[in-house]
Amino acid sequence: MATTAHATTLIDGKAIAAQITDDVAAASAGFLARAGRAPGLAVVLVGDDPASGVYVRNKGKMAAKVGFHSVQETLPAHVDQAALAETVRQLNDADAVDGILVQMPLPEPLDAEAIIDLINPEKDVDGFHPVNVGRLAAGARAPCLVPCTPAGSVRLAKSALGPDLSGKHAVIVGRSTIVGRPAAQLFLAENCTVTIAHSRTADLAAVTRSADILIAAVGRPHLIGEPHVKPGACVIDVGINRVAAPERGMDATRLVGDVDFDAVKSIAGAITPVPGGVGPMTIAMLMHNTLTAACRRKGIDDLEF
Ligand code: GUN
Repeated sequence: MATTAHATTLIDGKAIAAQITDDVAAASAGFLARAGRAPGLAVVLVGDDPASGVYVRNKGKMAAKVGFHSVQETLPAHVDQAALAETVRQLNDADAVDGILVQMPLPEPLDAEAIIDLINPEKDVDGFHPVNVGRLAAGARAPCLVPCTPAGSVRLAKSALGPDLSGKHAVIVGRSTIVGRPAAQLFLAENCTVTIAHSRTADLAAVTRSADILIAAVGRPHLIGEPHVKPGACVIDVGINRVAAPERGMDATRLVGDVDFDAVKSIAGAITPVPGGVGPMTIAMLMHNTLTAACRRKGIDDLEF
């Protein structure tokens, strides 16, 4: 095994996220004082996928904690496209709602793209609407809302490397619309040299070994191991994979990332754990986006958060 002289930094996503949500809570109180109402976040959950249920509950809890007006719309898995579309239209029209998030994935046969297209781009706190995707691709042109997980990943990279990422080679493994593609745009906006690798990339390890910043976002447990990482690289693990954990008992499971943490931790210069890395940042950035959307809707541009 390769050994290096440097000490590896464990990037504490939980602590960094807590700082962001503290700042959002303070600004949320300022918004309430100015606008006469709290910022509002509506989360739509369709069906009974247990993981989606946990994510949505956590988002609602955090929204309440930072002082937002929090709404959850829960619809049955068999809801039809028209009824879901009507829910989104009502939230678009609700003045007290500044941010709308429809939890993905939607149950079959619902058409997720058609639903995303209906969300008012000014309330699209996921940054999934084509208007926001386009503004991000045009260099994060204001008034853009950017996807939460990639935005959180950039913040974590900066916490380890400092605010200027110029000239760093960011390699993103994964080309999803939720993480990989927007992450590439955000690191490009930070003046990184950006490579997107994916399931058809030839000699993945050769590509990832040239990364100063390696972002793993493919949803394959422990895909990234020692041969994939340049000594000293900053490794951001976006994967959240539930795997069997027989050592914890029959039917037990645990969460692991796309990175084999134990194999990589002594090589990397900095690395995020799973859980406790990118996960908490996603929720923190959702709160940040909701406050941004609320301030824009009310013409408030001088709240610090
Ligand atoms: N499912 C997994 N990640 C996300 C996300 O960031 N937003 C939404 N809406 N659904 C998700």
